[in-house]
Parts: sequence; structure tokens; C-alpha cells
Amino acid sequence: MQHQEAQKLIAELTAELNQHNYNYYVLAMPTISDYDFDQKLKQLDALEKQFPDLQDPDSPTLKVGGEITKSFKTVKHKYPMLSLGNTYSEQELLDFDARVRKAIGDNFEYVCELKFDGLSMSFTYRNGKLIQAVTRGDGTKGDDVTTNVKTIKTIPHQLKGDNIPEEFEIRGEVFIHIAAFEKLNAEREENGEQPFANPRNFASGTIKMQDSAEVARRPLDCFLYFLYLENAPFKTHWESLHAIKSWGFKASEHAKLCKSMDEVLDFIHKYESERHKLSYDIDGIVIKVNSYAQQQELGFTAKSPRWAISYKYKAEEVETQLLSITYQVGRTGAVTPVANLKPVQLAGTTVKRATLHNANEIERLDVRAGDTVLVEKGGEIIPKIIKVNLDKRPANSQPTIFTQTCPECETQLIRNEGEAAWYCPNDTGCPPQIIGKMQHFTGRKAMNIDSLGDETIVQLYNAELLHNISDIYALKDKKVQLLQLDRMGEKSANNIIEGIELSKQMPFEKVLFGLGIRYVGETVAKKLAQHFKDIDKLMQANFDELVAVNEIGTRIAESVIDYFKIQEHRLVIEQLKADGLQFTIEEKEVLLESNKLDGKTFLISGVFENFSRDALKDLIETNGGKMLSSISSKLNFLVAGDNMGPSKLQKATDLNIPIISEQELLNMLN
Ligand code: IVH
Repeated sequence: MQHQEAQKLIAELTAELNQHNYNYYVLAMPTISDYDFDQKLKQLDALEKQFPDLQDPDSPTLKVGGEITKSFKTVKHKYPMLSLGNTYSEQELLDFDARVRKAIGDNFEYVCELKFDGLSMSFTYRNGKLIQAVTRGDGTKGDDVTTNVKTIKTIPHQLKGDNIPEEFEIRGEVFIHIAAFEKLNAEREENGEQPFANPRNFASGTIKMQDSAEVARRPLDCFLYFLYLENAPFKTHWESLHAIKSWGFKASEHAKLCKSMDEVLDFIHKYESERHKLSYDIDGIVIKVNSYAQQQELGFTAKSPRWAISYKYKAEEVETQLLSITYQVGRTGAVTPVANLKPVQLAGTTVKRATLHNANEIERLDVRAGDTVLVEKGGEIIPKIIKVNLDKRPANSQPTIFTQTCPECETQLIRNEGEAAWYCPNDTGCPPQIIGKMQHFTGRKAMNIDSLGDETIVQLYNAELLHNISDIYALKDKKVQLLQLDRMGEKSANNIIEGIELSKQMPFEKVLFGLGIRYVGETVAKKLAQHFKDIDKLMQANFDELVAVNEIGTRIAESVIDYFKIQEHRLVIEQLKADGLQFTIEEKEVLLESNKLDGKTFLISGVFENFSRDALKDLIETNGGKMLSSISSKLNFLVAGDNMGPSKLQKATDLNIPIISEQELLNMLN
């Protein structure tokens, strides 16, 4: 394709995909299927790789991350990020109202908004473009996390609409929806990783990650709620909320202009119960004086504005009886204790169960069947037991002894040193583990066999059509048996078989993740696949070779070795290979653009201004250069970005290796 033609196509695809992103994430009204979107995104990505100079800084391909931040730059806030005065009492709200009235009289309005429970951030836009995103930090200085924020789909990189101010700052709350949090947290637990306590911690843990590609995989969202703009063309906060929406920001629909304290209290009462219907956490309501002039008149105390206050809802708790403690077995064999409660109303739902996490938690609470317990549903979504009411403990109560055998297959449980969880080691014979492993394998992040849902897998397991993941690929010859299942018609059966066949195209890293090796989550699977490139090499790797891979620690290495030691696992892999699944990485064919870098070797390190590291690598390879993975005398050029590690710099200097910038690399090509 000619440069000019590519330019036009890239511009069209960029604009179209950005509009689709906006429709999907901000308006929640998609007009294209996920599949078509992905196809177009792939097309754009391929074009950008071929013509790196044509990539738009606002390209939707940048939203998938890929850049690594070693340490975040500290940035001073132009406007300090103050907190709000807060109260749990309606009387104190009335006192706040009286103070406001005393200062500015009775002629004013409030805006009531939800108080989102995430992390507050400040975003700077110049000429319609997002140029910086900074965390709250200590209120005066925060961390520059722009690269990570750029992966959040609801935060526009480029604003649209009219009257966009040349430069402004906007504040908002970054958060994750409860359902996405629960799902990702469950996956973490399944992979043996420490779960996050609540969505808030999840969001704050995510925004400070070094690998922006991992941030991109975690669906963060953001509501914007305050604009800092000198000489604003409007006079009230309410108008600003409308303006920011028209520029493409996501502002909450649940805001109300209130003329009196009665209306404010109504709003508070309404969301006291309705908050449980929202898909995200809020911990209260924020009340702001609407007029900018009146806000200015009221001013600030040292800590917070005098024109706003937050009303916080109390975490709801209730007493109930613990009927029994039972145990659940997950895909990895981890055994989780569950508290079965006498059903009780709490925070808008009937609570029947609470998690007890592990044996240590049971010991810490000294919780026993028959106890009366205090249950809370606060920031955490799954109700949790706070404490035991010892006054109500039955006289004959006995301490809880954590089960020693698997509740499903009666195998003796084991506990690895230093770990809290007990495991059932019978991974090839324990039904929930077998079913869980197959569900994991077919799941979206692994083989993505949509048509073979979790329920169907249970059905097929019960009908003895599936015993392990390799049986999945034999289903195509069992259509007759499939059709005998409940609610299974010709069409569903065909869809299942077709979906299974299609999954054979899934790349090695997905297959590896799908195997469900403990501690081998998505990212680790990718690292291992990229490093070893072939399952046989991975299976033969010893401990030292495994830990030599970047970010692979001893725990993962041991788990990988243990997994491949088991004969049954090896047989399954052999079978899957025979079925045609991908167990090697196909080396990309490099289409040469030029041979200007022929015979030269490069290493890329740090964070770059204009290109992702992958794009730079492609650029080098498509012009005949070769990438090296470490600094040695064989290296010709070190391409250095920001935040490059000091030891690399030292080594390159010691060996007299030229250190060049991305611009200098581009100059070599022109
Ligand atoms: S306005 C100067 N509006 O609550 C006014 N804050 O305790 C800036 N928050 O740090 C804040 N939802 O993180 C505002 N609708 C909302 C909010 C909100 C949540 C957070 C924010 C702030 C904290 C104050």
C-alpha cells in the first residue's frame, strides 16, 4: 500500500474506532459488534506497524497499553487536591446549610451527586488533548500515571464538540465496576494470587502498575465531577457538568439540582437504598453549592472547601446466627470455608452466606457453628463476619476444626508451607476441580469457546462425555450423544462443535493459560510462551532456566515443574497437540521495508515519547535490524527512553556502546 493511501485509511479507522469506543464505553450504546470492532482494530494496528510515522497520538490501538513505567514521576498539583468535610449525621448537614446561608444568604442552589468510592485523580487537557493524569498523592503532589490512564476506555484522549477551553484541569474518580471486580478477584484467587479486599483497593493497585498492558486488561472506569477552569464560559457547576459531557467525558446521570435542604435530604434517602442497585460502589453523597461566584465567596478552610460537604452512609451490619461452616473446592483445589447464615436482610439483599477466607480467619475470629455473628456489607461486596457475639455463645459450643479431607472426594488435604489455603491434591479425580479446569480452559481469556458455557460443561461432565480438557476436542464425533442432552438442539450442538474447531487457532499463550497451571495467570503464560516459544522447551526447562525468565519467581517455577511431572498432564498435552492446538509461537514473518539497519543489533530500554516498545522493535526489524535481549559487546546500539535502569546505562557506557534516542533511531532510517 502507498503511504498516501495508508494515511487516509489510518485516519478513517482511527476516527471510526474512537467513535465506537465512545458509543460503547461512555454512552453504553454500541453500534458495532465486538467482533467487527476487533477486526477493524487489528487492521489499524497492522497498518500502524507498517507505517509507524502515521500513527495518530489518539490512536485507539494505544488504549491497549504496552509501555512499562519503572517509577512514576512526582508532579505538583496546580490546584491542591483537597478533601471534603464529611459527616454521617443529618443534623451536621443542617448545620452546614446554616453556615452557608449565613455567609451568602438564602438565594442559592445545591448540586447533589454520588460520592464514588474509587481514587480521585486530576487530568489536564490542552488543545483538547489529554496531556497528564496525576493521582491525588498527599493532596499537594501526586504521581504521573498518564500512560496507565490512557488505557481507561472512558477517558477521552481527544475531546470533541464546541467551546473546548484551551487548557483546563478536571477531577474525577477512577473505579472498577463490582461485577468486573468480583470476576477478576475470583480469577486471582484461583491463580493463587492474593485477592484485593475491595474494588477501591483494586483500582488503586491497578493505576500504579508498571505494565500498562496489564492495566489495560483490567476494566477501570472513571466519572468526572469537577472542572478547574479560569475564566469559565459558564457560571455554575451544573452547567459545567453538562459542558464536560458534551466534550466526551463521562459524568454521572445521578446528579440533581436542589433548591432546598428538603430536596437534598430526599436525594440522600433515595440513594441510601438505591445505591445497592448501582453497578459500582458509592460511599455517600456530595453536596456542592452550585454558583461559582458563591463558591468563591464561601472560599476554603485549610483542608476543604466551605461550599461543599459529603454525607457518608454507614457500613451496614446486622447480627445473625451462623448455622454451619461448609467447604468449597475451586478449580485449583483450594478449599474455602463458607459460613452458612440464618438468612437476614442487609444492604438491600438477603444474606445467607459469608466468606471465611481460610483456616487462619476461622482461628482469628474463633467462630463456631451456633454462634451469633455480626455481619457487615461495606466496601466489600461479599458479606463478611466482623466478630462473634460471645455473650450469645451456646454453652456446649466447640471450637471449629478445619476439615482435613476434601468435601467432594475425601482426599486428605495438604497445606504448602507459608500458604494460608488448604488444597485437595487430587486434581485429576476431584469433580469440582475437573469441571472448574474445563470451564477455565473454555473461558474467554483462554480458548474462548463461547458456545460451550459453564452450565453445558457441567451437563457434559455429568453425562460422562467430558472427563478432561482433551475430551473437548473429541465432541465433534459425539453429536448423537450431544443431541440427547436436555435443552440441546441441532443448532446449539453445531455451534458447540464449530466453536471448538475455531478454538484450535488460539495462540500458544492462550492454550498455556488455559491449562490452568497454578500461579500461571494470563501475564505469566504470555511471558513463558514468549520466552520458550514451544511447549516442549517449556516442559524440559529446569528450575534455573525458569527463574531466569523475567518476572518468573521460585513459586511459579516450582508449580510449572510440578505440573509437567504428572503423567496425566503430559498425556492431555499430547492429545491436544494431536488435535491441532497451537503449542508453539509462530515466528512472525518480517516483511522488510528497507535494509537500512542490516547487520546492526539493537536493545530497547525505558519508556518512549512517541512509540511503544513493540512499535520500535517492529520498526527495527522491518528495516533489517536485529534485536538482542541483553547488553554485551555484540550490541551496536542501545535505544534509550525515559526511566532506563541505571545498571543498563552503566554497562552500556562501560562497553562503549552508543546510546541513542528514538529520534536518532528515526534519523538512521531517513
Ligand atoms: S468534588 C473541590 N465530587 O471524595 C471538590 N468528590 O472526600 C473536589 N469524591 O477527594 C471533590 N465523588 O475523591 C467530588 N461527586 C464527587 C465525588 C468526590 C467522590 C471523592 C473525591 C474527593 C473525596 C472527598
